[in-house]
Amino acid sequence: MTMRMVLGIAAAAALAGAAGAAQAQGALGGDPAKGLATFKQQCTACHSADPGVEGAAPNLRGVVGRKAGSDPKFTAYTPAIKAARITWTPATLDAFLSGPARMIPGTAMPITLPDPKMRRDVVAYLASLKR
Ligand code: HEC
Repeated sequence: MTMRMVLGIAAAAALAGAAGAAQAQGALGGDPAKGLATFKQQCTACHSADPGVEGAAPNLRGVVGRKAGSDPKFTAYTPAIKAARITWTPATLDAFLSGPARMIPGTAMPITLPDPKMRRDVVAYLASLKR
């Protein structure tokens, strides 16, 4: 099987799943199911989205609507993010993930997602998490 065929099959499977996921789309129109896959690959080394679980980074369940640097159980925030006057919305999360240190100089969040589609999907996933 060629790589192109494999990708074609994967795309067809993704489309089949997209109909059901459409209602759960975030404000930027991303796909939360794809966002979960990216989240597992690129975020869970440090972040958890399981209720109450803290790791090397703040828990991201309920992050949409939360003020930056305000997870009450995470005690290792940088002064920079605590002082940032930002509330996380799909739009501010998208901007943050495109360049965390550009938005909040001094933040310890090291991961950048340069691909806008990937960012929209991750933001849709985060927005889909109930507190
Ligand atoms: C290598 C560890 C690491 C990885 C991987 C990582 N982060 Fe972070 N992230 C952090 C740390 C540490 C902070 C706290 C930043 C601070 O205190 O300045 C943070 C903060 C954040 C915040 C702000 C949370 C708040 O409570 O204000 C968001 C949102 C975030 N990260 C999203 C992500 C996403 C989405 C991914 C995957 C694409 C990701 N992070 C991957 C370490 C990481």
